[in-house]
Amino acid sequence: MRVVIGSDHAGFELKEAVTAFLRERGVEVEDVGTHGNASVDYPDFASTVARKVGSGEADFGVLVCGTGLGMAIVANKYRGVRAVPCTTEFAARAARAHNDANVLCLGERLVGVGLGLAIAQAFFDTAFEGGRHERRVQKIADVEDENMR
Ligand code: RB5
Repeated sequence: MRVVIGSDHAGFELKEAVTAFLRERGVEVEDVGTHGNASVDYPDFASTVARKVGSGEADFGVLVCGTGLGMAIVANKYRGVRAVPCTTEFAARAARAHNDANVLCLGERLVGVGLGLAIAQAFFDTAFEGGRHERRVQKIADVEDENMR
């Protein structure tokens, strides 16, 4: 499994923690930045990560900003990306099991590092259930076909 991860300054600490957590589990992680606390713009990092997931270069993405919300708004503009801002472990499990979510968006200012790591663990420990959800995820792709260039 190949994961690409990015954050802005407001998500930097949690991005570092999730990167270390995934690497300890043997996951190949590409960190596209940011690499410090200097102020940067979240759309730049969301675009880099979403492009790699949408093209299949990475299997999953993780995006961290202050709220996780701006990252999700940008990432979902990319075809093939199903980005979910999650503030609970339940939401992270449901997003994988039902929506086959492929980009996890976290808000460091909302969940902090401890809960953020637990949410990431729940996300990566849960498989897509398929079955009736397959049809619904296919309908998401149909919406993309109708509305995206
Ligand atoms: C940065 O101040 C903040 O706006 C950003 O991290 C994020 O929360 C946007 O959605």
